Amino acid sequence: MEFLERVVADNAAAFAGVSTSLGIRLGLYEAMAGAGPLTSDELAQKTGLVERYVREWLAAQVASAHVLHDPETNTYVLPDEHAAVLADSSLPTYVAGGFTMLKALYGAEEALTSAYRSGGGVSWQDYGPELAEGAAAFFKPGYEAVLVQEWLPAMEGVEAKLRRGASVADVGCGFGHSTVLMAKVFPQSRFHGFDFHEPSVEAARKLAEEAGVGDRVTFEVAAAHDFPGGDYDLVTFFDCLHDLGDPGAALRRAEEALAADGSCLVVEPNVSAEPGENIHPIGRSFASTSAVLCLPAAMAQNGPHALGNHPGPDALRAIAAEAGLHSWRLAVETLTNRIYDIKR
Ligand SMILES: C[S@@+](CC[C@H](N)C(=O)[O-])C[C@H]1O[C@@H](n2cnc3c(N)ncnc32)[C@H](O)[C@@H]1O
Repeated sequence: MEFLERVVADNAAAFAGVSTSLGIRLGLYEAMAGAGPLTSDELAQKTGLVERYVREWLAAQVASAHVLHDPETNTYVLPDEHAAVLADSSLPTYVAGGFTMLKALYGAEEALTSAYRSGGGVSWQDYGPELAEGAAAFFKPGYEAVLVQEWLPAMEGVEAKLRRGASVADVGCGFGHSTVLMAKVFPQSRFHGFDFHEPSVEAARKLAEEAGVGDRVTFEVAAAHDFPGGDYDLVTFFDCLHDLGDPGAALRRAEEALAADGSCLVVEPNVSAEPGENIHPIGRSFASTSAVLCLPAAMAQNGPHALGNHPGPDALRAIAAEAGLHSWRLAVETLTNRIYDIKR
């Protein structure tokens, strides 16, 4: 019975995810944040949406305990603590970004069933535009909270180089949040973001312009195994090394492109290679996305590897050593990520 209840709850969460995603896309959580109690009419007016739909959405939100309802006044409130998780994407507590990836993942079910049967892949591009946008939204708050504050200082000698003026390649940069975050803090340095997904590169360029760092950041379409440039003090792979069909070729290219005492920063999910150790929400989240995204996207690249997002540090370390990067150190870890400092 306990198991049955758990699966019913999972199914309810899977249904509820769509209305959470709608709440983000339609600005409903943002409109409720800090607004105090609102009627469905008031929320509809604030968001320019149809009241009947807003009322139904609110009922779903109350059932999920995201929003509280006062039957006496027939008003709804998004408590500040909930707004920090669902409404304000500038806070490290914001975790709602992942919901905007759901459409891409559920929408790929047909392609995934074929891939599971044939051994083929589903390419990053085949998931549709929501994937890149959702992935960027999912990772951004984490990077904002710790990249500059904790991860870069944990890398040997890197922060001082960035302060003096260093050259950085951010490989598989996606929408460029990591690149722009670093560029904002280290104006003496130059940052070059590369990704093989053209729409992501375009979004990254826009982000850099909006952030006012266009003078020190460039973004180019390039595959991880042949990104241009050389003499980089730092080459970074944020949550993407395991997604590559040929992570070895990407690390070989990084090794070639590094300055004499340059370093690679590799950010990977903090999830165990031992399935039984991932029975917790973060492990579940990573293991589940690996089965429907990370593995099939890597399979689509027809490389020598399709690692999934939990290959374990030994597998990655062996690939790095083969690429000529023999020094391997766990620099720091958070609940969600492990950050490796890798050198020749
Ligand atoms: C999970 S996303 C991470 C994006 C970004 N680094 C971030 O942390 O938000 C993986 C990224 O790897 C990129 N990618 C996958 N295979 C690639 C390849 N072979 N060459 C270059 N980029 C690749 C995808 O386009 C995507 O942007």
